[in-house]
Amino acid sequence: MTGQAVCGFHPTQRVASRRQLILNHKVLLTGGAGYIGSHTAVAMLEAGLIPVLLDDFSNSDPAVLNRLKQLTGHALTCERGDVLDTQFVSDVMRRHQCSAVVHFAGLKAVGESVEQPLRYYRVNVGGLLSVLEAVQPTTCRSIVFSSSATVYGDPATVPIDETFPYAPESPYARSKLMCEDILASLAMSDPSWRVGVLRYFNPVGAHASGLIGEDPSGIPNNLMPFVSQVAVGKREKLRIFGKDYPTADGTGVRDYLHVCDLADGHVAAVKRLLSQGPGFTVNLGTGQGTSVLGVLHAFEKASGRTVAHEFVPRRPGDVAEYFANVSLAESTLGWRASRNIDDMCRDAWNWQQKNPEGYRSETASTACELHAA
Ligand code: NAD
Ligand code: UFG
Repeated sequence: MTGQAVCGFHPTQRVASRRQLILNHKVLLTGGAGYIGSHTAVAMLEAGLIPVLLDDFSNSDPAVLNRLKQLTGHALTCERGDVLDTQFVSDVMRRHQCSAVVHFAGLKAVGESVEQPLRYYRVNVGGLLSVLEAVQPTTCRSIVFSSSATVYGDPATVPIDETFPYAPESPYARSKLMCEDILASLAMSDPSWRVGVLRYFNPVGAHASGLIGEDPSGIPNNLMPFVSQVAVGKREKLRIFGKDYPTADGTGVRDYLHVCDLADGHVAAVKRLLSQGPGFTVNLGTGQGTSVLGVLHAFEKASGRTVAHEFVPRRPGDVAEYFANVSLAESTLGWRASRNIDDMCRDAWNWQQKNPEGYRSETASTACELHAA
């Protein structure tokens, strides 16, 4: 597979993409210090774009900036502040003259959204409105939005394509659909806006260098970081939620996607919008489903460790199986995932071993340009 590749396009693809001459545009990455944003920043640089990060570090650590500098050789600009502060976002747009925006910033825990719906709507929906109001007076008209496969709920069949009915089952999922609606209304009111909606399936893994990766605070909600923490000895055992699903081995099936493939998908999306392509809504996944036991076994193979586990009842709200039909992403963006579940586990394990405490052992970088609002 493509294990040696750094995030972004592989060398041969890089030559091809450079020919497209979408170079040196500044791209604002709200939430750019987070898990997906930081990997996307690396992919953007690889592709000849200049990422400008904006983050309030409510769910990330400024130490990531130091790692990004080590990894890329560039001191990335990061503006520290809240996307809900429209004046701040306007000021960042004015100073950096960004040609496109990727809006990652937001809250993402499904269970927490059920307990704190107002906070989720304020940050996720209010955050998008604030960013759009800040961008509207500028000449920037290209925006890529982080949506989620949760908008489909429990699908009647798989694979899921973009025409499937919406069935959001949590405030988090509803907030994503509301954002999609807002963007559609904006594009209808002013056709100069070009909007790319990316519905991610299950992003996992880390950059192959082991310098950046997923750094959940507290007990991980998601499967892959939990498995990693069991393998490294931080947690005793994985609890597998349900063994009686109507799937091949009885455990839940998901479409896991390497975060570096996802990052490349953002580069492809931004390039399409910057080359005046029309807007789009596409699934980003691999098109392959893997069960919980499948992930566990792949992780054991990658790490050489046994991952202790037990079966417990189903987690409320979980669905049996979903994976994406990715043909629209391929035909629209010329993008396709290239890494498989073994690559994802290998890179997740490499990150976990090198950073058992995540970024927490490091202090904030002074080497990067970090500006406070
Ligand atoms: P993340 O929490 O690692 O990154 C989000 C970043 O946004 C963090 O750095 C956080 O500090 C920042 N942020 C949050 N609120 C902010 C605010 N008000 N102002 C400025 N910055 C703020 O999450 P991620 O996994 O990188 O997800 C990025 C986006 O992708 C989110 O919108 C999420 O809903 C979406 N998404 C994620 C997944 C997933 O499984 N990771 C799946 C589907 C969709
Ligand atoms: N699982 C376990 N034990 C755990 C954690 C998870 O058995 O400790 C199982 C779940 O039951 C499910 C599978 O592993 O079958 C994957 O669960 P995750 O929590 O990793 O992922 P989800 O599919 O539930 O949801 C994730 C994100 C959402 C996002 C969605 C689609 O958490 O925010 O993918 O993109 F919207």
